[in-house]
Amino acid sequence: MPSPKLPLRERVFSGMRPTGRLHLGHLLGALPNWVKLQDEYDCVYCVADLHALTTRYDSVAGMKRDGIEMVADWIAAGIDPERSIVFRQSEVKAHSELALLLGMLVPVSWLTRVPSYKEMVGELGERVATFGFLGYPVLQTADIILYKASRVPVGEDQLSHLELAREIVRRFNGVYGDVFPEPKAILTETPRLVGLDGRKMSKSYGNTIDIAEDPESVSKKVMAMFTDPARQRLKDPGHPERCNVFSYHQFFEAPPAELDEIDRGCREATIGCTACKDRLAARILAVLDPIREKREALLADPGRIEAILEDGRRRAVAIATDVFAEVCEAIGL
Ligand code: TRP
Ligand code: SF4
Repeated sequence: MPSPKLPLRERVFSGMRPTGRLHLGHLLGALPNWVKLQDEYDCVYCVADLHALTTRYDSVAGMKRDGIEMVADWIAAGIDPERSIVFRQSEVKAHSELALLLGMLVPVSWLTRVPSYKEMVGELGERVATFGFLGYPVLQTADIILYKASRVPVGEDQLSHLELAREIVRRFNGVYGDVFPEPKAILTETPRLVGLDGRKMSKSYGNTIDIAEDPESVSKKVMAMFTDPARQRLKDPGHPERCNVFSYHQFFEAPPAELDEIDRGCREATIGCTACKDRLAARILAVLDPIREKREALLADPGRIEAILEDGRRRAVAIATDVFAEVCEAIGL
């Protein structure tokens, strides 16, 4: 059997659904990894609008805009659209076509046993108990292998999808011959930033700070954060380890000397929570200000992001067309 034809540099593929503005969780989580990977790999980053449709098929208003804003966030955070291919999934038709072909050989039982499937149907109800949503991991597999990507940066929650992608690839290669490399995960190991209220950070809990959030709103949200309940008054000594404001200071890499000072000041009741939060708001804004400015500059030029996506589409199609032709030949279509 011929060995798979591989691109020269290993290729990375990843995507995000356009569900709304990105927040600090993305900025400190997936995005820095995406940015770093650009140095070592050919990267393909996809606005997964078809995947978004699996759950928002009945609330499509604003979806295109969400995609554009998301791409602005990506670029402002350091994704370089000249080095990396940045494109919209729905504009490269071979994603849908390859997903259909893969669907022929994926047992339904593989899909119903994916943990996130049952969970999501439990959470979102019959509304998402659709054929499309069941096929989410099949489409995701098509995304990755259409570029013969060998590496996929994912969070832990996506590992089962990637495992399934590997199984699908093995089955495809077993039936039709070695066309695709098995994609391997690059586990995104970022300590998880919890939400402002200490729960999991999620837009649906309203406990996030958006990358594009205006400074006043950032300050307001920081001021509203809970602190150590033992610190009712300024004189009450506190416990930084029980305070989310303190963990945010750590996340935003306060210099060790300043962290020590806050730690001591909190325990000895010499620094007040308001002052402590003022510092945190300033620290967060020091990170967000330049990103917000870059983002605004990008969006100020109305055709700019569309032009980037069009360039990405062209480059994506160039690869996808070749790989898809190989698929058709392997299957005998
Ligand atoms: N499922 C991903 C999300 O949660 C988006 C996505 C679509 C993706 N295709 C992918 C991620 C391929 C990695 C690889 O938004
Ligand atoms: Fe939290 Fe800072 Fe107040 Fe201590 S001083 S309880 S670390 S906000």
